[in-house]
Amino acid sequence: MEILPEILQQYLETHCEPEPELLKNINRETYLKVLKPHMLSGHYQGRLLSMLSKLMQPKCILEIGTYTGYATICLAEGLVEGGEIHTIEVNREMEEMIRKNFAASAFEKSIFPHFGDAQQIILELSGKVYDIAFVDADKKNNLTYFNMILPQVKSGGLIIVDNVLWKGKVYDSAANDTDTRLIREFNDAINVNDKVEKLILPVRDGILIIRKK
Ligand SMILES: C[S@@+](CC[C@H](N)C(=O)[O-])C[C@H]1O[C@@H](n2cnc3c(N)ncnc32)[C@H](O)[C@@H]1O
Repeated sequence: MEILPEILQQYLETHCEPEPELLKNINRETYLKVLKPHMLSGHYQGRLLSMLSKLMQPKCILEIGTYTGYATICLAEGLVEGGEIHTIEVNREMEEMIRKNFAASAFEKSIFPHFGDAQQIILELSGKVYDIAFVDADKKNNLTYFNMILPQVKSGGLIIVDNVLWKGKVYDSAANDTDTRLIREFNDAINVNDKVEKLILPVRDGILIIRKK
């Protein structure tokens, strides 16, 4: 379920930058060949990630949850010359498609895909300093990821977290399944954390923008 009505979504998509051809193809191929294609960021959210990245002019980005690489390429659009994006995917069955998609992009040399569990790979990347981190993997671990990466995010840097409205369930008091409770707890923990500024955007399934003070 999308948060925004379909008709509004269509209006937004026709009044932002067009979706680049490669991303259209990745979107199409993901819907044809891969399970749970709704996980892909898509046109409007992808343009938001691209815009944020271009505003931040990052040297180094971390993405947790590569899937088919759609958002990785959107974020890479804002990298400065010589910048890098590290993206982590646990599902090795995705590796061939991910590598093919990155090779087809203009950012192949800037994108460093890592395959394995995010917590392990975040530790392996512990020397990096991030301008942006995009957290979009197993939602139950959002708080673990946040606590692990916050020290590596520079002051003024962003941690962007996807799906924080969880199809509207986080603000529905009748919804109490485990995932909903954990996402609610994560949102509440960020809300009282005075090391960061935070803002939830009601885009797609809810995007939380966290800015390190
Ligand atoms: C929502 S999808 C990512 C979508 C992608 N960021 C985009 O916007 O197009 C989540 C991905 O996280 C991966 N994932 C789940 N748990 C993970 C973990 N512990 N470590 C690394 N990746 C994980 C899943 O296999 C899946 O491909």
